[in-house]
Amino acid sequence: MTAEAHQDRVKMYDAQFAADPAGVYEMLRSRYGDYAPVELVPGVSATLVLGYDAALEVLRDPVTFPKDPRRWQQTVPPDCPALPIMGYRPNVLYTDGDTHARFRKAIVDAFGRVDAVALRAYVEQSADVLIDGFAADGEADLCARYSGRLPILVFNRIFGSPPDIADRIMQAIIGIAELVDVENASAMLTRGVEDLISLKRAAPGADVISWMIEHPARLTDEELTDQISLLVGKGIAPIHNLIANALSLLLSDGRFGGDLSGGSLPVEDALDEVLWTDPPIVNFGFTYPVRNVERAGYVMPADQPVAIAYKAVNTDPSKNTGQRVGNRAHLAFSAGAHTCPAKNPARLIASIAIEKLLDRLPDLDLAVSADKLQWRPGPFHRALASLPVRFAPAAVLIPTLVPAPRFSAPPPPTPQQFHAESGDSSLWSRLTSWWSV
Ligand code: HEM
Repeated sequence: MTAEAHQDRVKMYDAQFAADPAGVYEMLRSRYGDYAPVELVPGVSATLVLGYDAALEVLRDPVTFPKDPRRWQQTVPPDCPALPIMGYRPNVLYTDGDTHARFRKAIVDAFGRVDAVALRAYVEQSADVLIDGFAADGEADLCARYSGRLPILVFNRIFGSPPDIADRIMQAIIGIAELVDVENASAMLTRGVEDLISLKRAAPGADVISWMIEHPARLTDEELTDQISLLVGKGIAPIHNLIANALSLLLSDGRFGGDLSGGSLPVEDALDEVLWTDPPIVNFGFTYPVRNVERAGYVMPADQPVAIAYKAVNTDPSKNTGQRVGNRAHLAFSAGAHTCPAKNPARLIASIAIEKLLDRLPDLDLAVSADKLQWRPGPFHRALASLPVRFAPAAVLIPTLVPAPRFSAPPPPTPQQFHAESGDSSLWSRLTSWWSV
């Protein structure tokens, strides 16, 4: 099959894909088979891999399917809207071979030193602080007040960020995620990460950043900044979406919602199911074949992007055994040399966050019917726009507030803008109270 022009391709960034990704994948599969031509981002064509076995073949053959995007990049204009996401950075995601292995080892080894008991404590403390912010209200948007904030708090702890740097990094990430002045937010993120590295070089601690600095891979400051910015930038949103997607399933699907307060919470089952059917990252894993590669009559053009449709791959009808609970053969965390290095902590964080929420608010219920939930458009994620819930007002656990929050970051955007959505300006005061614990 020959490549189609952009205008004839199915668009992966429009409202139709956000509303019904399964329907779009089904249509692509019936029209094209395991490899489909799509318009991934306005003006950017790509091949989408839809078959489970086909995806594994691509992910496990880094010689034919390398990750470095620079050959493709030479073929697109400098203002191509995909570049902020797909453009080359000297980090673990966009490199191959020895360079990739060196970056990856520093990350994997540093995360490997995070103590699971300490991680559980970080997540539970962060969850309590956030839940306290809305427990008395009887209603909340869990995306804005909980799942979107919790991974940021946990990251700040495992990175050992002091409150002022943590504030800046958090503001930057929210700015990038919510597309508020992205250029400034990105610069703020880089500055925050650079300051954190300088601080940890001068005064190392028992945290991931210090462990990456002291790793035998001996990453330079620039290399550290690139890896840490990637960890922060790419690690937080998928945890947010995993928590929110699993919660929406738990609260809406009779198979899981039987008895949330009965002590046998089916949280792990819901996480398994969501990782198969609604994984946080739906299309990603870009690679750029070194030559034209023909499979099943379809040609993946040399140097042009091939993306793995993780959600479609996981629901490949030729592979569907029907048994998802307890089955972790899904590709939600990818596979091969670039498989997610943080899949275990990511899943653990999501699991503890959900358990804690259901524990504190046992009668949690969706405030709208599940079919009214809105999904955020975008070709890469499966992300709820909001998750409105109601519950019987519950006790606040940490009633004592410490003095006003410290925001040291320069404008714009202001903390008030970021907190406007949740109205939770006391959050940071609370955090500073346990940061030093
Ligand atoms: C539910 C949460 C998560 C999901 C579903 C997820 C999924 C993925 C996927 C699909 C990839 C492959 C991307 C590709 O091939 O281009 C990946 C890679 C990666 N993920 Fe995650 N991820 C999650 C959480 C995290 C977290 C918390 C971190 C960081 C702390 C992280 C760091 C990375 C990194 C650094 C890579 C690149 C690895 C490499 O290229 O060798 N991820 N992740």
